Amino acid sequence: MKTTVGWQADRGETTLRRVSFERRELRADDVAVRVDYCGVCHSDLHALHTHPADRDTPLIPGHEFTGVVTDIGPDVTRFAVGDAVAVGNIVDSCGKCAMCLRGQENFCHEFPTLTYGGTDRHDGTTTLGGYSREYVVRDRFTYPLPTGLDPAAAAPLLCAGITVWEPLRALGAGPGTRVAVAGLGGLGHLAVKLAVALGADTTVISRSADKADDARRFGANLITSTDERQMSAARDRFDVVIDTIAVPHDISPYVKLVALDGTLSQVGYLGPVTVQTLDLLTGRKKLSSAGSGGRSETAAMLEFCAEHNVTADIELVPSARVNEALDRLARNDVRYRFVLDMADLS
Ligand SMILES: NC(=O)c1ccc[n+]([C@@H]2O[C@H](COP(=O)([O-])OP(=O)(O)OC[C@H]3O[C@@H](n4cnc5c(N)ncnc54)[C@H](OP(=O)(O)O)[C@@H]3O)[C@@H](O)[C@H]2O)c1
Ligand SMILES: [Zn+2]
Ligand SMILES: [Zn+2]
Repeated sequence: MKTTVGWQADRGETTLRRVSFERRELRADDVAVRVDYCGVCHSDLHALHTHPADRDTPLIPGHEFTGVVTDIGPDVTRFAVGDAVAVGNIVDSCGKCAMCLRGQENFCHEFPTLTYGGTDRHDGTTTLGGYSREYVVRDRFTYPLPTGLDPAAAAPLLCAGITVWEPLRALGAGPGTRVAVAGLGGLGHLAVKLAVALGADTTVISRSADKADDARRFGANLITSTDERQMSAARDRFDVVIDTIAVPHDISPYVKLVALDGTLSQVGYLGPVTVQTLDLLTGRKKLSSAGSGGRSETAAMLEFCAEHNVTADIELVPSARVNEALDRLARNDVRYRFVLDMADLS
């Protein structure tokens, strides 16, 4: 076991404190990663605030990070000590089910092992996340960080980026298609940048008209979701609508924006939604969802981002300011992703 340091919420707590804890000995196909930069995802807030009193193991969040390989197990051939790498929100899967065999480890029938709050497939322990100085991960779920990508601004690609990349790709976003992105936050701004880089005509749907300048800078227009006139003018306009809104909300205004045979992919709020069948019927519209990505699409996304110069707009803060970052994220006060600099944990 190797002792490392991280930011942990104890049972019943929603704030994080600095703790020492152990990482497992390397298995044959493990790599040890020094975590340099870890993004702060809205899912981390959900994890901290969902029934903290019922949590029976400590919580160390963090599932989009970049760093450097510090050690490798004897069977590892894809990585060497010193390599720049990235890790996302999945660290293992069964490798044998139909989904894994199709390269969709994110949909593994045995449920993929999550980077934190998951159950390790070998020893049954609860995984502890990337708000820490060191992580131990199976080599298959470690990705080379392409040169040219800034390691801090690339960290959010590993959750926010891949979560919107897979539906954009699967739904054919590209030249000649119109894409709308609802909610301009961590996921939303990367969806916009990726859709623009894929060649789609891209529009942001936001409550905040004051994000219009940012939308333009990313290559998109902005529709204010609270402006009925703008919303009805955009009826049936978009082949793909990616809804990244972090809270329960009425999706019918967004279904109305979907074009004939188009799709609304709901990736933000993952609870129950109510949909009027007639809203889908009128235009043969489809309702879908997505989350995370398979190994090959994750690697492809990183290459695409390096080629097209896509990274997150970040506010980089020392990891000791993690609680402040989470508070500000909860208030929607970040443009557009906090990334923790883990150097202060050494
Ligand atoms: N499917 C997956 O696998 C997956 C992966 C990662 C995250 N998520 C989930 O995706 C959601 C977004 O994550 P994120 O990190 O992008 O969060 P974020 O940075 O906080 O962005 C969420 C955006 O939602 C909009 N929003 C927030 N509160 C709202 C409200 N009360 N009404 C309407 N719009 C509201 C805001 O956009 P405007 O200000 O522009 O309106 C905000 O920027 C979270 O629920 C997260 O848990 C899912
Ligand atoms: Zn996430
Ligand atoms: Zn599987």
